[in-house]
Amino acid sequence: MAGSSSLLRAAVFAMALLLLRASSVDAFFDPFSIFRARTEGEIFDPFGVGSTSNGGADDVPEKPEVAQTEVEEKGAARPNTMGLTRVPHSGAPSKASTETTVLRVNTRDDKADGAWTIVSDNSGVSAMHLAIMRHGRAIMFDTVTTGRSLMRLRFDNCRVDPRAKKPNTTDCWAHAVEFDYNNGAVRPLKILTDTWCSAGGFDAEGNLVQSGGYFEGDKAVRYLSPCDTCDWVEHPRSFADGRWYATQQVLPDGRFAVFGGRRSFSYEFVPKPGLFNHQSVPLPFLRDTTDDVENNLYPFVNLLPDGSLFIFANDRGIILDHKAELVIREIPQLPGGARSYPASAMSALLPLDLRGGKLHGGADPEPEVIICGGAPTTSFKVGENGDKLMVALRDCARINLANQDARWTTEDMPVARVMGDMLILPTGDLLLLNGANRGCAGWGFAKGPVLSPLLYSPGQPQGSRFRPLVASTIARLYHSTAALLPDATVLVAGGNTNAGYNFSGVDFPTEVRVERFTPPYLERHVAVNRPEIYMRSVPKDGMRYGSRFPFRFRTPVAAVVEADVMVTMYAPPFTTHGYSMHQRLLILAIASFVADGWSYAVTVDAPGKPELAPPGYYLVFVVAKGVPSEAAWVKIQ
Ligand SMILES: *[C@@H]1O[C@H](CO)[C@@H](O)[C@H](O)[C@H]1NC(C)=O
Ligand SMILES: *[C@@H]1O[C@H](CO)[C@@H](O)[C@H](O)[C@H]1NC(C)=O
Repeated sequence: MAGSSSLLRAAVFAMALLLLRASSVDAFFDPFSIFRARTEGEIFDPFGVGSTSNGGADDVPEKPEVAQTEVEEKGAARPNTMGLTRVPHSGAPSKASTETTVLRVNTRDDKADGAWTIVSDNSGVSAMHLAIMRHGRAIMFDTVTTGRSLMRLRFDNCRVDPRAKKPNTTDCWAHAVEFDYNNGAVRPLKILTDTWCSAGGFDAEGNLVQSGGYFEGDKAVRYLSPCDTCDWVEHPRSFADGRWYATQQVLPDGRFAVFGGRRSFSYEFVPKPGLFNHQSVPLPFLRDTTDDVENNLYPFVNLLPDGSLFIFANDRGIILDHKAELVIREIPQLPGGARSYPASAMSALLPLDLRGGKLHGGADPEPEVIICGGAPTTSFKVGENGDKLMVALRDCARINLANQDARWTTEDMPVARVMGDMLILPTGDLLLLNGANRGCAGWGFAKGPVLSPLLYSPGQPQGSRFRPLVASTIARLYHSTAALLPDATVLVAGGNTNAGYNFSGVDFPTEVRVERFTPPYLERHVAVNRPEIYMRSVPKDGMRYGSRFPFRFRTPVAAVVEADVMVTMYAPPFTTHGYSMHQRLLILAIASFVADGWSYAVTVDAPGKPELAPPGYYLVFVVAKGVPSEAAWVKIQ
């Protein structure tokens, strides 16, 4: 079984390194066919270590084992009172880490260009997965596979490691934290099953419902409620198929569908807690879009206004009627390369503008999807065969799905980017940040960090949509994340291109610093007249579909008129691997607007149906002359 393989993948490669350390990878590695159905034995021994010849390597463990899971670790830094250990020193920066891309900002017209601050030097856990919850905290987690983090669980609260050779071996490192984005305080959370490359979303009550992962976690569903003392509740046997690198989507009826995952060419629905699925629904599209390095994981999924689902994987899309279990449309190929993991482009559903529709029975808004960057189809293969990394894709494509024979229209970004994050801002503009301009996803598979965020204005004509903003100083490549906060700033976290927490002898040390990016709209001289929602005026029972929703706000220094004002609502997404699942922004129609000096009573039309906005908690913003307020958390039902 010695020799190379077309199916070698970075994560697996690095996992093998983690497991073997001293032995030759070639001798050990027996890449599996991704088209083969897995037996139970393979699920619990996915690398075939226990069952196949290992070419004579003596130190191959019986089973995959998490490195460094002893209870007492000699020489480990002592945790502080929060449980955090010190960030190890990184030594001199590598050459690769200094080869960054920073774009010049255009200061000609004296516009603000954004600002960066550090929220925390140590979040304890590197934020491979990130979500903002309605109790005002971020949830960040990585995976048990990366071993020790920088935060301890309390010794009476350790996790038993099901992969360890010795029974009852405990893992006392936190793999998830609740993070206070206002002061950097962290609280460790205890996850039992491996969340490596998992998915998530919010239910109608604002609980985080989180699915899949690796090994003992690949069929798991986990629940976390929004409170200061809550912790995970896990149901390890929920799914029929393993969901490693799957995408989770909220449905109009409040359920979740989960699509794909490695070698899972199917979808299924998150069962009620404690129940499990006997079978999944086959989705041949996921098999058809799998190439020799996959390039179709973490598919982009968007709920459309008619209740159907747009699914994009690799270089193609479909529209699925999940109720009829039918593919109802095929979307033309997007040429130029691959867009899904490990080619990892950025994608979002552009804001849904409800201002054209009437309160009851108005026309649906036109759904438009954007996909930017990614990597050439062969990028991963070229990367694994040597030091050369291919330049990432630079194009940015849009398609209006309301149009039956829609085509992609494409323009170039100012810089190529792979593994970026794409967030919709309260104003309806997009923010593109993080990522690299060479290589693709996978441990150690990218270089050339792109430090400049881009602001993208979808309403502008081609050629004047992109605007470079002030650059960060922190490289965030693989496993980095970003999230819009209720105060309209952006939390930027994570970044780990190594197989474990590693701070020295690597090009890019594991990133545990957390930043806040303040978009140009909130810089002091721009935001003097920032609108402010009277939180007590916001109806306590939230919004109802198709009803009017009244509230009041003020502006501090000057009057605005109705034409200056926009009311938007944002579904907080679950973000990982450069994709923010179920991210959507709706621009609401204003039904009435009454000014009293610098105070305003405004009534908006709530979305008419859950296909536009599935039940749950949204961030409602008032935007006045382009400056967003702080948001109110509002439940729609
Ligand atoms: C492991 O822990 C369980 C529960 O505490 C105990 O019943 C069992 O005997 C332990 N096994 C070993 C080998 O220590
Ligand atoms: C970090 O990565 C380097 C390069 O692969 C390796 O030599 C070193 O042993 C790693 N350190 C830790 C603590 O894993």
